[in-house]
Amino acid sequence: MLMLLLLLVPALVAGGTECNPRDFGADSVVCVCTASDCDLQGVIPVPADGLFTTVTSSRDGLRFAQNTSSLESTPNPDADVSVVLDHSTDYQTIFGFGGAFTDSTGINIASLPLKAQDFLIKWVDMSYFSPDGIEYNLCRLPMAGTDYSIRTYSYDDVEGDVDLVNFNLTIEDYQYKLPYIKQAQQVANKELLLFGSPFSPPAWMKESGSFFGSGSILKEMWEPYANYFIKFLQAYEAEGAPMWGVTMQDEPLAGLKDSSWNNCYWSPEDTRDWIKTHLGPAMKSAGYGDVKLMIHDQTRDTIPWYVIPCLDDAECNQYVDGTALHWYADLLTSPDSMDETHNLYPGKFMLYTESCDGWNAEPDEKVILGSWVRAENYAFNILEDLNHWATGWVDWNMALNMSGGPNWASKAADSPIIINTDAGEFYKQPMFYALGHFSKFIPPGSIRMPSTVSGPGSGDVIAVAVHDIPSLTNVAIILNRGDSSKSVSVDSGSGTEFMNFVMPAKSITTVLF
Ligand SMILES: *[C@@H]1O[C@H](CO)[C@@H](O)[C@H](O)[C@H]1NC(C)=O
Ligand SMILES: *[C@@H]1O[C@H](CO)[C@@H](O)[C@H](O)[C@H]1NC(C)=O
Ligand SMILES: *[C@@H]1O[C@H](CO)[C@@H](O)[C@H](O)[C@H]1NC(C)=O
Repeated sequence: MLMLLLLLVPALVAGGTECNPRDFGADSVVCVCTASDCDLQGVIPVPADGLFTTVTSSRDGLRFAQNTSSLESTPNPDADVSVVLDHSTDYQTIFGFGGAFTDSTGINIASLPLKAQDFLIKWVDMSYFSPDGIEYNLCRLPMAGTDYSIRTYSYDDVEGDVDLVNFNLTIEDYQYKLPYIKQAQQVANKELLLFGSPFSPPAWMKESGSFFGSGSILKEMWEPYANYFIKFLQAYEAEGAPMWGVTMQDEPLAGLKDSSWNNCYWSPEDTRDWIKTHLGPAMKSAGYGDVKLMIHDQTRDTIPWYVIPCLDDAECNQYVDGTALHWYADLLTSPDSMDETHNLYPGKFMLYTESCDGWNAEPDEKVILGSWVRAENYAFNILEDLNHWATGWVDWNMALNMSGGPNWASKAADSPIIINTDAGEFYKQPMFYALGHFSKFIPPGSIRMPSTVSGPGSGDVIAVAVHDIPSLTNVAIILNRGDSSKSVSVDSGSGTEFMNFVMPAKSITTVLF
């Protein structure tokens, strides 16, 4: 059995494999991965000159279905939707896409049976990171615990240890984060960019003495807490996983309310003052001046207000690289706040650093196996954010259990991979493929270009286009939220080369040419 699987797996990987669908009664299906079978998309080649490739997923069951056809010299005159690309302007450069190495992600992956030389476990990382999977390259790493942990902790829980002599990574880092980061680095062929995010400082550094509830850090702890960041950066570097970036604090406004999960309140003014007097200089003098420092890490209804005090201050501004955003208020907030922030500070990037669906759903709908609605929510939000200056989009937990946990604060949510420990299998949700339509095809360094969508059927359609300088590939990603199929005509931007094809009802297509 073992020998057979060892032979089988490389063969599966080389060709790209089909989804093994299962209908759990939602509007679409999951793809089931077992110890002997898991769908991988394979390497999808850039089409030769004169050809274009479409890759499509749909509510009705397509998962990365490919077609290669010839470019045509005229548009389809009857097209429901016309998409016109424009190579005259370069917008933002893309950093990438990914998810978060939370404790819960690692706990769930580790709960899979160690059958067949742990291919099942490896398949989670291969699905997310390998060239045969959806090629994540930008991931968030909680600095110590979050609510998606099974206990509350920091890297130094010895009260009053202001010199941090007891600072250490924890069992969670060694068992649930580092092994999967290492495996991801091994299976990926893109560089894995990691950024740390603390949810709370050590409880003893805070006014409340608690990881949760409301309140902020004590002013006399500003210096030890800056050193805590440096020790974190050093510890992960020593483990072979250096940070590309850090956010200063997850949702710094959550600590204004009595929030039931790990948090810490930072006002915009304290953010400015701590960075300019402590964190910025400490990172610089410890040799981490190039680590991208992001502020805000919160929903877009509070920009530009929150970032103005820091970014208008020359000293704070010099240490800060970008604004981090979460999607939770996006249905209520227009993306205009992103344009406004970009226009105020065009030299600072914006990056989506946390999103998940099901967080505000009824308890029995935290996880909906096979939901296309949630895949569409992901795709719509990513498209909207990229069209308003986001340089990437990072999902929250990469793997949760059948109830959307574990979570010590009794919260739960959905995830692109749901692990069914009892059955020894995992499910790739439609959200997995929705994110994959971006992560697999928009390599870091790609540049967004203008695109317009028009035509009688364009009301349900949204698109984004990028070009990738190194490989000279152009990529357009189109979402059809309509209940009927649509004929689409994409003008490559030259006015002489057109891509005419049909998108099914409720579908996402990535076009490569
Ligand atoms: C591929 O192209 C053929 C011919 O135009 C069409 O019938 C089929 O639906 C397409 N499949 C996908 C997945 O786009
Ligand atoms: C940190 O924890 C690891 C794993 O438990 C252990 O090997 C190491 O010695 C600890 N380091 C310190 C400085 O306590
Ligand atoms: C699965 O998640 C739920 C919801 O957070 C949690 O109550 C439960 O303990 C978790 N199960 C395991 C085995 O971790």
